[in-house]
Amino acid sequence: MSDSVRVFVPRETSALSLGADEIAASIVAVGVGRRLDIDLVRNGSWGMSWLEPLVEVVADGKRIAYGPVTADDVAGLFDAGFLSGGDHPLKLGPTSEIPYLRNQDRWTFRRCGLIEPLSVADYRTNGGFDGLENALRLGSEWTLTEVRDSGLRGRGGAGFPTGIKWRTVADAPADQKYIACNADEGDSGTFSDRMLMEGDPFTLIEGMLIAGFAVGANKGYVYLRSEYPLARSVFSKALSVARDSGWLGRDIQGSGFDFDIDLHLGAGSYVCGEETAMLESLEGKAGLIRYKPPLPAIEGLFGKPTVVNNVVTLASVPEILARGAAEYAGLGTGRSKGTLAFQLAGNIKRGGLVEKAFGLSLRELIEDWGGGTSSGRALRAVQVGGPLGAYFPAELLDTPLDYEAFVQAGGMIGHGGVVVFDDRVDMAEQARFAMEFCAVESCGKCTPCRIGSVRGVEVIDRIIANEDRAANMALLKDLCDTMVDGSLCAMGGMTPFPVRSAVQYFPGDFARDFERDFGKDLENAFEKDLVDGTAVPPKAGVNP
Ligand SMILES: Cc1cc2nc3c(=O)[nH]c(=O)nc-3n(C[C@H](O)[C@H](O)[C@H](O)COP(=O)(O)O)c2cc1C
Ligand code: SF4
Repeated sequence: MSDSVRVFVPRETSALSLGADEIAASIVAVGVGRRLDIDLVRNGSWGMSWLEPLVEVVADGKRIAYGPVTADDVAGLFDAGFLSGGDHPLKLGPTSEIPYLRNQDRWTFRRCGLIEPLSVADYRTNGGFDGLENALRLGSEWTLTEVRDSGLRGRGGAGFPTGIKWRTVADAPADQKYIACNADEGDSGTFSDRMLMEGDPFTLIEGMLIAGFAVGANKGYVYLRSEYPLARSVFSKALSVARDSGWLGRDIQGSGFDFDIDLHLGAGSYVCGEETAMLESLEGKAGLIRYKPPLPAIEGLFGKPTVVNNVVTLASVPEILARGAAEYAGLGTGRSKGTLAFQLAGNIKRGGLVEKAFGLSLRELIEDWGGGTSSGRALRAVQVGGPLGAYFPAELLDTPLDYEAFVQAGGMIGHGGVVVFDDRVDMAEQARFAMEFCAVESCGKCTPCRIGSVRGVEVIDRIIANEDRAANMALLKDLCDTMVDGSLCAMGGMTPFPVRSAVQYFPGDFARDFERDFGKDLENAFEKDLVDGTAVPPKAGVNP
């Protein structure tokens, strides 16, 4: 096959939804018809979703990109000589030179899009398993120290320091310990876990192996959301390939270290992404929140010490151990070290995944990478951090993307999802949606969340309908306070964040006929303390 031309067509959920399979089939068919020798590779996505399906060819040793391609474009691409990098209106030039990609700090996602996801050889050639080899050679103490010194914090939501979590499990005396990977990815506008599992699954396997080696666990579970059938298929195959090639199972690469991984599917509950509900679900029970303490690090899965980490957290570790903690810690700002894979979604021109060191502003992310709204209209609100994140108005766009700065501004970075809304959004409806989402997804274990969210929807409905609005605004404030103070977990405890921010920054949406009906009084009813003194998420950082 030495004269064959390599052509890459992603097998990734968003590319598939846009016809990538048809394009791949068409490329093969035209190639056969024209007696051309094509080596078709199904890679993952580089994360430039607005260019999907992004087709690449290797010409003069470089990957040249074309996109977004449709099946109808394929014959024209052949006519234009795309197999040797020929000019065509869809030609984007060398993939690595596309500014969206070139200006990122690709660390965790550096192989995503680049490699053939199920090829161990490709993975190895591109630095795969180097981190694990260093860990096995230098020992678990070295590994724990490196992870601590890297400053890595959990990418699932709470931003808890990973090194401290791992140390707690390593020090817990037990005959059995577990690694539980949280791949439930329920936050609105997020897809980084999925993209990694579809495009570079061995990185997650390697991260789990390192975690197991560091803390003394020989068994791992991945809790994957059921809405990700492709991630399920790719990751299951990756587990088999890893086992067959000696990178999973007994005596990994002759090191004496045993570790295996089971893949478990969730059943579509948002709250099962909360770590204790996830553990309940993994044990085969209903996904109810557990009281803490005990922390999962002490008594987790089946009552044993358990590392619960997000996909991206675990997948960041191999490169940290390959390149060294100092290099990772040198990226970012303040206590937000390293990089985060931000995900741009909603009303945004260039949606996709952007891995950048912490510290850039929300504005840079949305304007420089995202290109502003896809509608071309003015941006009105941004929700960062999933359905429990606050809505920021355009005036807060200069907030730096770092955990502490975001909390100080009343928001949270969470899993890095950024959902953009233009000036047509109705923020009273968004506030209602936050309460309704909580009512639907509540696990029901505690009253402020189970009942409070239902009452919250009713109160907001009355406000929107202009029924005794001032009194209902005061009631909403009270309800939010009760949910924040009295909920058992962040589901009920943080649902008030989007609600309060909508009231604070977009009061007009709750009082469209306020002037006519109430004069100045209603404005006073938006009591300032509704939003004061509550910037710190109540449960942030409490869950090692
Ligand atoms: C309601 C709720 C939903 C959550 N959903 C997820 C999720 O889908 N994925 C995730 O990694 N963490 C989720 N979390 C955070 C987890 O409880 C936990 O903090 C995280 O898995 C720990 O891993 P990390 O330290 O690597 O972030 C959720 C938390 C809450 C309160
Ligand atoms: S806050 Fe909601 S989701 Fe969390 S324990 Fe209470 S009822 Fe369950």
